[in-house]
Amino acid sequence: MELTLKQIKQDPRLNSFIDQTEKYLKALGYTDHGRRHLDIVSDRAKKIANKLGLNQHDQETAAIAAWCHDMGNFLGRTQHHYWGAMLFSQCYINQANPDDVTKITQAIVSHDKDDLKIVDKVTACVIIADKSDVHRLRVLNKNMKEIKADIHDRVNYAVTDNRLNIDKQKKTITLALKLDTKFTDIIDYFSIFVERMNYCQKAAAYLGYTFHLQINNTKLA
Ligand SMILES: [Fe+2]
Ligand SMILES: [Fe+2]
Repeated sequence: MELTLKQIKQDPRLNSFIDQTEKYLKALGYTDHGRRHLDIVSDRAKKIANKLGLNQHDQETAAIAAWCHDMGNFLGRTQHHYWGAMLFSQCYINQANPDDVTKITQAIVSHDKDDLKIVDKVTACVIIADKSDVHRLRVLNKNMKEIKADIHDRVNYAVTDNRLNIDKQKKTITLALKLDTKFTDIIDYFSIFVERMNYCQKAAAYLGYTFHLQINNTKLA
C-alpha cells in the first residue's frame, strides 16, 4: 500500500493519539504540539523536500513523517519521539512498504534525538521544518502575566513572523524571525533555542547547505 498524507490524516488511530497529545500537553502547560503545529511542519517539510529536488515519493514521505512526529507525546514527553515512531510502526508495518515505514519512523525519532546521526534527506527536511516552527500562535496560554513569566511562552509569543528561505545557489537555508523585543530579548531566544539551531545546522549540513539565523534583519549565525 502506498501511503499518502491525505489517507494518514484520516486514520482514526493517529487522530486519537494526536487528540490525546493535545489534551496532555495542554494540561502540562506546553506550547502547541497539536494540529496547528503538525500541519505547519508537514507543509513546510514537503516544501523543503520539493525545493531541494527530492522525488515526489520522498516529498510525500517527509509530509507524513512531519505530520506524525509529535503524536507520541501523550505517552510521555521525554521519550515522545520514540513513542511516536513505535506507534507509527505498529499501525503500518504490516500494511505499507517496509522501506517507507523505516524512513518515516527514523525521521520521527530523529527530530528530538540526542545522539543524532542523519542518514536520510527525509529526516533532515522534517528536522528543519519542526525546529523552525517558533511563533506567537504556538502559545496556548491566554494569560499575559503567565506568558511573560514563562520563558518558552515568552519567546514563542515574541515571534510574530518566521520565514524559511532556501537559496540553492548560495547553498544556504535561512530562518528569518521577527522578534517583538517588548516581550523578550535575543538572549532569551538563544537560551531556549540554541539546541534547536544545532539540529537545524546538522540537518542543513547533511543536505549540503549551511544554516543561518536572522532576527529582525540581523544575521546572527
Ligand atoms: Fe517533538
Ligand atoms: Fe514538533
